[in-house]
Amino acid sequence: MTTVAMPKPHGDRGMEGMVAKWYASNTAEVMNEYSELAQRISREIAPGSRVLEVAPGPGYFCVELAKRESFAITGLDISRTFVKIAAKNATEAGVDADFQQGSASNMPFPRGSFDFLLCRAAFKNFAQPVAALQEMCRVLKPGGRGMIIDLRGDASPAEISRHVDQMGLSTLNRIMTKLAFKTMLLKSAYTKEQFQQMLAQTEFTKVEISEADIGFEITMTR
Ligand SMILES: C[S@@+](CC[C@H](N)C(=O)[O-])C[C@H]1O[C@@H](n2cnc3c(N)ncnc32)[C@H](O)[C@@H]1O
Repeated sequence: MTTVAMPKPHGDRGMEGMVAKWYASNTAEVMNEYSELAQRISREIAPGSRVLEVAPGPGYFCVELAKRESFAITGLDISRTFVKIAAKNATEAGVDADFQQGSASNMPFPRGSFDFLLCRAAFKNFAQPVAALQEMCRVLKPGGRGMIIDLRGDASPAEISRHVDQMGLSTLNRIMTKLAFKTMLLKSAYTKEQFQQMLAQTEFTKVEISEADIGFEITMTR
């Protein structure tokens, strides 16, 4: 899992733009995380699948996935700045992905639209997390699968520090990333028990939560 500093969805536009650009360039340093995840997911889902990334930010996962197979890929992000950055990244990479502006807790898609969805390094920022989970369930096809990858709220400072040191970031980014984890990210991250309570309020038929390093991987089947 990579670093995750957040633009405030309804904050100052200039500040949001600056934070979005910083995030896009910082996470570009760990592009291998996106390409490895895209490679794994592309093996797990059928060609032609309809894929949604909820809160794609700069769209790196969508772009890496689009390079591998012919999927119909959509990204939905609350930040207009990130939607523009993601669309530009897809164009520059020469791939097709549709980036739209909208909220995870009120998605502009009909019920049963997607075969697979991913929400990576973003869930802890959602203002209405239970509504976001319910929306994820609604927009998946019956039998469709959702995956949330995020920080564990009970990761220790030592674990965080070790994780960031292994990310291969430049010195300045390493310092800023550790600061972001300590001052913002851990405070908003959920524990496994909190996730279980929220997921109990959805209609997913099957949920698996696995803990690894400083994060979770949660798989939810509609
Ligand atoms: C840290 S970035 C993660 C981006 C990307 N998933 C990644 O792995 O690089 C978090 C993203 O969540 C988006 N976001 C925050 N609240 C949202 C909401 N309610 N609905 C949709 N996107 C949201 C932000 O605009 C931002 O792009």
